[in-house]
Amino acid sequence: MDLKQNNEFMSLVNPIVNNSDFIKTQDTIHHGIKKFDHSIKVSYYSYKIAKKLNFDYESVARAGLLHDYFLSNTNGKSLSKKALKLTYKHHNIALRNSRRNFKLNKLEEDIIVKHMFPVIPKIPKYKESFLVAFVDKIIGTHEFLSKFNKLLNYKILSQVIPSFMIFTNIIK
Ligand SMILES: [Fe+2]
Ligand SMILES: [Fe+2]
Repeated sequence: MDLKQNNEFMSLVNPIVNNSDFIKTQDTIHHGIKKFDHSIKVSYYSYKIAKKLNFDYESVARAGLLHDYFLSNTNGKSLSKKALKLTYKHHNIALRNSRRNFKLNKLEEDIIVKHMFPVIPKIPKYKESFLVAFVDKIIGTHEFLSKFNKLLNYKILSQVIPSFMIFTNIIK
């Protein structure tokens, strides 16, 4: 995913990416990665699909980037109480933050506030909103699983290495 190659995408998201408040999403962790990176991925892949399908790709790119625009940090603990609470209200916070700092159209507002569909059963009004909700679920699930994979590998390694050392000591 070489974003800099894609001038059109970059020009659509530049005003958001360079906003001094939005940039703080670099400091928060979401599904084990920086929320900023998660949001860029959702925006970019949704934009690519929207272009192919002749959807409003400009709104998709912008709202895709803003869909998780909230600054509370759960420190990567996706299953903590705080994170679970945020699951059910962050779409409203993202809409509030986005409205405060950017001028949004009706479609962009719907994409942001309905992106948790079907986890939160607020049915999207537009096909573009369904698209971003779908891409977000796929990318979010992938990030969540890779985070647990890493953890699992670390756990296995942390058991295997000491056992291996004991074993090599015994056979010396
Ligand atoms: Fe979200
Ligand atoms: Fe998301």
